[in-house]
Amino acid sequence: MVRINVVEFYSGIGGMHYALQYAGIDADVVSAYEINTTANAVYKHNFPNTKVSQNNIEAVTIADLEKLNADLWTMSPPCQPFTRQGKQEHSNDPRSKSFLNILTILSKMKTPPTYILLENVKGFECSNTRNEFVAVLKSRNFLVQEFLLSPTDFGIPNSRTRYFLIAKQQPKSFTFSCTQFPLQYSTETIDRKRIPCKEQSLDHENCVCKHTESVLNTFKQRKLSDFLFKYKSDDFLVKKEVLLRYFPVLDIVHTDSIQSCCFTKAYTKYYQGTGSILTHQSSNTLREASENFKEAESNDAKYEILSRLQLRFFTPDEVSRLMCFPDNFSFPPNVTSKQKYMLLGNSVNVLVVGNVFKWFLLND
Ligand SMILES: C[S@@+](CC[C@H](N)C(=O)[O-])C[C@H]1O[C@@H](n2cnc3c(N)ncnc32)[C@H](O)[C@@H]1O
Repeated sequence: MVRINVVEFYSGIGGMHYALQYAGIDADVVSAYEINTTANAVYKHNFPNTKVSQNNIEAVTIADLEKLNADLWTMSPPCQPFTRQGKQEHSNDPRSKSFLNILTILSKMKTPPTYILLENVKGFECSNTRNEFVAVLKSRNFLVQEFLLSPTDFGIPNSRTRYFLIAKQQPKSFTFSCTQFPLQYSTETIDRKRIPCKEQSLDHENCVCKHTESVLNTFKQRKLSDFLFKYKSDDFLVKKEVLLRYFPVLDIVHTDSIQSCCFTKAYTKYYQGTGSILTHQSSNTLREASENFKEAESNDAKYEILSRLQLRFFTPDEVSRLMCFPDNFSFPPNVTSKQKYMLLGNSVNVLVVGNVFKWFLLND
C-alpha cells in the first residue's frame, strides 16, 4: 500500500496513531484534532513531529479538511451520548455536536477521504447517530462494515467491547464479508450474536463461522502476569476504609487470571465497575479470604483477613500495557496518576484497532 495521509479526530493520547504503527501502515498523520490540553501534551510528548490542533471539532470547516487532503479519517467521538448507563440521547446530546459537524462536512466536501474508521462504545450501533452516519456514507458512495470486538477476543486478559465501523469509498471494495472474516464477533456479547448486518443483506447466522473462530484462535491466550511490572511501593494499595466498604463489589483478579474488567476514566476514583483490583496471592487464597470475610464479625477481623491479600490497583503503566500501548509510550513527568487513568480510560486498545487496520487497509 502507498503512503497515506491521515486525519485523527478526537486524538486523545494517540491510540489510533499507535494502532497504525502496530499494523505497519505507512501513514503520515497530517493533523490530530483534540480539545483536551493534557491529552495533547501526552500526544506531543510521544509524537513530537505530528501537528496537534487544539481545536474544537465543532468549529472545523470544509476548507480546513479539503486542505489536508487526507486518505483516511480515524475517529473515536465522545461516547457519553451512547453508553448504556447514560441517557442515550444520541444526536440530541450536545456532546454529539462535533461529530454531526464532521458528518455535514463529509456530506458536502469535494474530496472526501477514501477510508474512514470509527470506534465507539457498544450501544453506538443502536443509535440514530449511527444511522445518520451510515446514510451520509452511502450518499458518498462508501461501502460499510461494522462489528464488535474486545481485547479478550485476541487473548488479551482485559475486557473492552467496542463498536467499529470501517468504510471504503467505491470503486474500492472489501476483500471479505462477515461470512468469511472475523467481523461482528465478540466472545463478550451476551448472545454471541453480532450487529445485524441488515443493509448488507449478509447471512447473520454465518457471522460466527469456523473461519472466524480460527483466525482469532491464532492469538495465544495470555495471563495478567505478562502485563505486570515489578514494583515495590505502597502507593497503589487499596486503603483500609475502601476495602471494608467495597470489598464485596470489587472485581478482584490474581496474576494467573485471563480476565480483567474494562479500565474506565474513573478508575481509583470510584471502585465498582471502573476496573479490576489485583492480588499477588493465589486464587485459592483469594477464595478463602472471601469466605472468611463473610464470617468475620468486627472490622478489625475483616481487615486482618483482607490485608493478607495486599490488594492493589493496577498502575498506569500496567493499564497502558493491557491497552497494548508499546513500552516506549510514556507520559510527560507532570501528569498525575489520576490524569493517566483518565486518559487511558478514554483511549483504545492498540492491538485491537491495529488488527482492524490490517484487515481494512493492508490488502489495498
Ligand atoms: C473517546 S476519547 C478518544 C481518545 C483517543 N482515541 C485516544 O486514543 O486517546 C474522545 C476524545 O475527544 C475529545 N473531544 C471531545 N469533544 C471534542 C471536541 N468537540 N473537539 C475536539 N476534541 C473533542 C475528548 O477530549 C477526548 O479526548
